[in-house]
Parts: sequence; structure tokens; C-alpha cells
Amino acid sequence: MNPIAKGAGALGGVLVAMATVAAYDSTAGAQKGAPGIGMETVSTLKELAEKTAENQVPFMLPPAPKDGARAVDAYKNVQVLGHLSSAEVTRLMASITQWVAPDQGCAYCHAPQRDANGKIVLNDLGYPLADNNNMHSDEVYAKVVARRMIQMTMHINQDWQAHVQKTGVTCWTCHRGNPVPKNVWYDVPEQDTRFGGIPGPPNQHAYATNAGLSSLPHGSFRPFLVNDENIRVQSNEAIDPENRASIKQAEWTYGLMMHMSSALGVNCTYCHNSRSMGEWNTSPLTRTTAWYGIRMVRDLNKEYVEPLTAILPPQRLGPMGDGPKANCATCHQGAYKPLLGVSMLPSFPELAAWVPQPQKTKTPEPDPSAAPAASASGAPATSASAMPAASGSAPPAASASGAPSAAPSGATGAPSGSSAIPEAKPASSARP
Ligand code: HEC
Ligand code: HEC
Ligand code: HEC
Ligand code: HEC
Repeated sequence: MNPIAKGAGALGGVLVAMATVAAYDSTAGAQKGAPGIGMETVSTLKELAEKTAENQVPFMLPPAPKDGARAVDAYKNVQVLGHLSSAEVTRLMASITQWVAPDQGCAYCHAPQRDANGKIVLNDLGYPLADNNNMHSDEVYAKVVARRMIQMTMHINQDWQAHVQKTGVTCWTCHRGNPVPKNVWYDVPEQDTRFGGIPGPPNQHAYATNAGLSSLPHGSFRPFLVNDENIRVQSNEAIDPENRASIKQAEWTYGLMMHMSSALGVNCTYCHNSRSMGEWNTSPLTRTTAWYGIRMVRDLNKEYVEPLTAILPPQRLGPMGDGPKANCATCHQGAYKPLLGVSMLPSFPELAAWVPQPQKTKTPEPDPSAAPAASASGAPATSASAMPAASGSAPPAASASGAPSAAPSGATGAPSGSSAIPEAKPASSARP
């Protein structure tokens, strides 16, 4: 080859290389462990900009006056917000509407207004209008769900600070303007593992949207995010005759780990030192936070979310008849901290903790100078309105007890053979 052609070839090579570099976005990295061991998280600036735009807190109403009658007296059927002032309840209702049902409005949860013929009155957008005289009614299932959600939010913020710190959550963290959060999961039918009609090893031929699009088990959530199945599979010694964990079981663990990574928008080294995935003392602290997160999600699904299935309408149920449930992505939505760590609780302290509910103030003794008939009748209207509060100071028992126990066995099935696996050694199964 003559020198000119060689030169032109080299120049062409440089141009191709430059074009290739220009086609990549610029990146930013965050070091998560000792340098040189790959414990770095790298994102493109475009990804960071998109993530920032997707994780904004919404407009928040200014605080409402705390004085005036307690909601327990001002309203007929408040069971969890009775300690607030009625102005505070009104502000919270407006905010809840903005967070959960911004288009649908108050009647997403409250009984609709009806005209003289009993027809539901619609607004300009075609959504029902709420009946201002019937706001106490619990006839719409979404209101009963929302009441339990208020309790769940208070419980997360008060009792799970080992995970959510003081940052905490509001309805917006999960809902972001949707009646059902964007990231929920259902039990999945038994997987068809055939590939072109040929039976193959389990789970190897279909990508799992639940597991970062890997070909790992689709059903890791039920064993690990509702039930307390053992996630640990690794031995603590090179050749450990006591570790009976199978490759199949490890696949379930990896399925969950893929979900956790994609839910937070991070890679494995955000929580692990890849030299030893199982070792706690070389893992970043984020892994301990995640450990609490797993226990928190189990608690939320078992105590709050699953029991509500009993009152959900059929269109809310998944292919196996179960309701939508929470996982890491429900709150995190691709961010290492939901809303990138911004707390809404300073503006909504009423959601920070559960407060024992006050009794309805006693109706004042009737004025003795009033007509005797009035005192004899005992003001039926007021005593009637006192009733719901009394029954309501207990948690919504019907929904809580109505857990459908008939979860499909295929989906509940923990990694098969896991019961035969001896527990991880005490040291490693103990809490970090
Ligand atoms: C996502 C569901 C939801 C939406 C949307 C909603 N509410 Fe509520 N509302 C509730 C729940 C739950 C309660 C009961 C709280 C309790 O038990 O302490 C309630 C109670 C009330 C009460 C007390 C009624 C009584 O007498 O017991 C009023 C008034 C009220 N809401 C007004 C509104 C208004 C006005 C809107 C629209 C701006 C609205 N709500 C939107 C869920 C909702
Ligand atoms: C940890 C995440 C999370 C938080 C925080 C949360 N929710 Fe939910 N919410 C869910 C999940 C998951 C579902 C689906 C399960 C269900 O409907 O039982 C749901 C369902 C609902 C529904 C039923 C919607 C429908 O159309 O079926 C309502 C209403 C609701 N939430 C209101 C609220 C309100 C109000 C708050 C704040 C006080 C709140 N949620 C906070 C996760 C959350
Ligand atoms: C958000 C933090 C987090 C991320 C990201 C994460 N893990 Fe984990 N991982 C954990 C926690 C916490 C445990 C322990 C769970 C438990 O014991 O309940 C664990 C356990 C494991 C185990 C079992 C260790 C043992 O003792 O047997 C393996 C293997 C593992 N992870 C691999 C991975 C891989 C591979 C990735 C990336 C695809 C990953 N992890 C991403 C937090 C994380
Ligand atoms: C109820 C909402 C919610 C759910 C569900 C949730 N998280 Fe979180 N998580 C948070 C909040 C809020 C923070 C921020 C706490 C703070 O400010 O430090 C957080 C922080 C974290 C952190 C610390 C990040 C850091 O850089 O310090 C990790 C790791 C984490 N979550 C992992 C998980 C995993 C894994 C799951 C699922 C098993 C999960 N989370 C489920 C709300 C949630």
C-alpha cells in the first residue's frame, strides 16, 4: 500500500473513532466503594436529566389553620383523621386528589351526586361529581382502600425509619397521579418453559419483565416480598458440605436482585462488593438499608395491601385472581431514593405518624329551659351521627380480615426444594 493510501486509511480510522466517541453521551460516575474494585455507578448525563425530570415533587398547598373544631366533631365518618382540624382535612383531601385521582376528582372515592331520576351527574370531563351531602358514605371501594392507605403511609413513616429515615413517603411517592401506582406486581401463571415446542430447563427461554428482562424466574416476588423465604444461597467457605442451595434456588435470588437493581436504577455494586456477594462487612451500608426494605415490603403486602384484595373490583385483579401489590419499584421508580431523596413530610406532618383517635365531643346537655320534648327525643340527628365514629375507631376490620387465602399454588410455590435446604448458618441468617 502506498504511503498516501496508508495515511488516508489512518485518518479514516481516526474519524470513525471520533464519530463513535461523539455518538456516546457524556457520563457521570459515583464511587460507592474502594477505588479499583469496580464499585462505581455510571450514568449518562441524559439519563440523569431524565431521572431528575421524572422525580419531581408536585405543587404543595400551604398549611391549613389548626384551630377550630376537630374533624371527628365536624364530620360524620372520619376514622383516621379525626384529630386534625376540618381545614387540615380539607387540605389533605385536595392533596390526596391531586396525588391519586387528579382527573377523576373527589368522586373517585366519594359517593356520586344523582339527579332527580337517580342518574349520576357528570362534570365536563365526564367524571362523576361528588355528593356534598354524602361525603361520609363508604359506598365507593376506593374510599375504603384510601383509608387503609392513609394508615399504611403513617405506619411506614413511623415504624420503618430504618428504611425510609425521616424522608418518609406520601401517597405521591407511589401514586404520582395514578389511582393504581405504575409499578405493581401480580402472581404469574406457571411459566411455559418450552422453546419452539422443545421442553427446556426451567425459566430459561422467556425474559422476565419482573427481573430486569433476564431469563430468570418470573415469580420471585411471592416467595421473597410476601413470604419470608430465604434469599441467601452462598457458602461461607470454599467447599461447604452443608450448603445445599441449588442453582435453581440461586436463580430465584438473582431474579429478585435484578428487580432490586432496576427498581433503584443501580447495579449490583451499589449494595455488594462483588468479591463476595454474601459478605456483610465489605458491603456498602446501602445493603443494610435494602435488607430493611425487603422486610418492610413484606410487612406492607401482608398487613395492608393483600387484605384489600377482598374489596377490589374484578378489573383490578391479575391473571391468578390476586390484587396489585408493592415491590421496590412501587416507591423507587428507577431512582436510588424515591423522589431523589426529597421529603414531602415537612409539608404533610399529618402523614408522619399514626395518632390515637379522639372521641367525639359529647353533645352538650340540653338547655333545661327548652321544651321537655326536645330533651326526651335526645336529638336523633346528632346521636346517629356519633355512631359511625364509635364503630370506626377500629381499623376497617372487614377489609383486613377478608384476605383471600386461596393464593394459587403455582405462584406461591417457593423455589422448589427450598424447604429441604438447611437454614443458612446462624451467623449469616441473623440480621446484619
Ligand atoms: C383517594 C380517595 C379520596 C379522594 C380522591 C377524596 N377523598 Fe375525601 N375522604 C377519603 C377518606 C378515606 C375519608 C375518610 C377519612 C377518615 O376516615 O379519617 C374522606 C373523608 C372526607 C370528608 C369527611 C366526610 C364525613 O363527614 O365523614 C370530607 C368532607 C371529604 N373527604 C372531602 C373530600 C373532597 C372535597 C375531595 C375532593 C377535593 C375528596 N374528599 C377527595 C378519601 C378521599
Ligand atoms: C407504598 C406505596 C403506596 C403508598 C405510599 C400509597 N399507596 Fe395507594 N396503592 C398502592 C398499591 C400497591 C395499590 C394497589 C393495591 C390495592 O388497590 O389494594 C394502591 C391502591 C390505592 C387505591 C385504589 C385505587 C383503585 O382504583 O383501585 C387508592 C384509592 C389509593 N391507593 C389511595 C392512596 C392514598 C390516598 C395514599 C396516601 C395516603 C396512598 N394510596 C399511598 C401503593 C401505595
Ligand atoms: C439495593 C441493594 C441491592 C442490590 C442493588 C443488589 N443486591 Fe444482592 N442482596 C442485597 C441484600 C439486602 C441481600 C440479603 C437479603 C437477605 O438476606 O434478606 C442480598 C443478597 C444477595 C445474594 C445472596 C448472598 C448470600 O448470602 O447467599 C446474592 C448472590 C446477591 N445478592 C447478588 C446480587 C446481584 C448479582 C446483584 C445485581 C444483579 C445484586 N445482588 C444487587 C441487596 C442488593
Ligand atoms: C414505601 C416506599 C419504599 C419502598 C417500597 C422501598 N423503599 Fe427503599 N427507600 C425509600 C425511601 C423514602 C428512601 C430514602 C431514605 C433516605 O432519605 O435516606 C429509600 C432508600 C433506599 C436505599 C438507600 C439509598 C441510598 O443511597 O442511601 C436503598 C438501598 C433502598 N431504599 C432499597 C430498597 C429496596 C431493595 C426495596 C425493595 C425491597 C425498597 N428500597 C423499597 C422508600 C421505599
